Amino acid sequence: MTIQFSTKIFPQADLQNAKLLKSSLKSLVSHNTDCLVLGFSEADLQQFSGAKAKPGLLSELDALLDGSLKHAKSLGDLDAKQASVCMLRAEKAWASNGVKAKRVLLLGLGDLKSEQNLLAYSKVARAGLKSLSGGSIENALWFMPSFVLDTGVATVADEVRLTIQYAGDQAYRFGVRQPAMKFKAKDAADTFRHLVFATNNSISKEVKLAVEQGAAMVEGMNLAKDLGNLPPNICTPSYLGKTAQGLSKKADLKVEVLGLKQIEALGMGSFLSVAKGSDTPPAFIIMRHLGGKANEAPIVLVGKGITFDTGGISLKPGEAMDEMKYDMCGAASVIGTLYSAALMKLKKNVIGIIPTCENMPSGRATRPGDIVKSMSGQTIEILNTDAEGRLILCDALTYVERFKPKAVIDIATLTGACIIALGHVHSGLFSEDESLVEALTQAGKSSLDTVWRLPLDAAYHEQLKSNFADVANIGGRPAGSVTAACFLSRFTEKYPWAHLDIAGTAWKSGAAKGSTGRPVPLLMNYLLEQK
Ligand code: BES
Ligand code: MN
Ligand code: ZN
Repeated sequence: MTIQFSTKIFPQADLQNAKLLKSSLKSLVSHNTDCLVLGFSEADLQQFSGAKAKPGLLSELDALLDGSLKHAKSLGDLDAKQASVCMLRAEKAWASNGVKAKRVLLLGLGDLKSEQNLLAYSKVARAGLKSLSGGSIENALWFMPSFVLDTGVATVADEVRLTIQYAGDQAYRFGVRQPAMKFKAKDAADTFRHLVFATNNSISKEVKLAVEQGAAMVEGMNLAKDLGNLPPNICTPSYLGKTAQGLSKKADLKVEVLGLKQIEALGMGSFLSVAKGSDTPPAFIIMRHLGGKANEAPIVLVGKGITFDTGGISLKPGEAMDEMKYDMCGAASVIGTLYSAALMKLKKNVIGIIPTCENMPSGRATRPGDIVKSMSGQTIEILNTDAEGRLILCDALTYVERFKPKAVIDIATLTGACIIALGHVHSGLFSEDESLVEALTQAGKSSLDTVWRLPLDAAYHEQLKSNFADVANIGGRPAGSVTAACFLSRFTEKYPWAHLDIAGTAWKSGAAKGSTGRPVPLLMNYLLEQK
């Protein structure tokens, strides 16, 4: 079961306008909902407190709620501090004032003057959504505290999409979506399943569109999370191919899956050198969402699809090796983003490309020292078979030249070094194209699925020199993420290109182990913000 999102228009609702305050509150509380969610600031609380109390948001609300707010305040439960929550349950007397809401959840917004930004809003939204979850609340009416309207960095649409993204994160249950995977300890779906955004005449159009986009994005994120979380004996290259093909029946997507013979015919010697150690055949997936004009150059997304990375003959240590099932999260984010784009009927041409295989040791596996020929014609000396992501991506990056792309972005759990550099906060961004850097950085800020730029200049290319081939596949320990990106850049000369290293952001380890669905929000916001 998935969570539903919708909007409801309260034509005049405006809590900033003193004249409309009373009628706005009246119309909101008289909506039949399990929980009405409202925000209030420190200034609102001051107006409500002490000898100098003046009429304002909280006093008007208190009148409708028959003194419940004063009571909560006297108990010390009403705090305007950012992201504090106060849940009020309906009492008999509420009904006589026309209140139909069964609960009112008050969210502390903090000091609005100094804290108006998307990050502040995100903390408030998370706290609010948490209070709605896990109990008996099934639906809620969410009146947007408009934090970001005038800050320029983000819009009310970003706020709405972010709220939906977090609600989706909170509702996600692997065991509910994949019941066959949890045999005994079954996950239960959250009771909270319908979030309604209250809008007024001035923002209703914008919010309605953002709700549709956000809901489509959650579908794509859920799919990306499922694919990441599924075990590597289920989520194989052919499973990814079948999943992508299945989507073409649900949304406006054309999907092609090339098999071993076709990959060989294309001359992808580098990709095949990774696939060859495994008994499971590779696949090369091509997804097209052509929502733009026929002659419009496409944006191409390329995702690393290693369904399990043992390291190959350069075998990884055993500890936490299970997490290498997540080495296809780049592919999952591309599949999820294309699905989202198709569901929201995005008016752009977007192509998703996924080279996918396993990296296994065997009698047929590539050895350290082997030299292979890439589709581009460049020869590669494979000095470490665990640096396999770049080997499958480089051929895909050559393949995409045929689309004459407007931009190519590859997404990959490429290097452990990226986790050392940036931790689990930002994805690594590598590009020499300033406008792509600018666009992806902005998309990161407006989705809070952020990136941080790392260098890619000539000096680092030195580390990739080989005595025996055109290029080596590793550049030693220093700046491991940078040399990996430098390797890829050698195959991207024909178009504007950016590389995202999502090794630290695509999944969480530890007790909360699981796929995050990142960077679907980043990619979606990037696509939405493209002119
Ligand atoms: N898939 C890994 C990168 C990775 C490691 C992501 C750990 C997340 C957590 C990649 O294929 C890999 O093994 N990279 C090597 C490169 C090295 C051999 C140059 C790495 O990072 O150690
Ligand atoms: Mn590896
Ligand atoms: Zn890998």
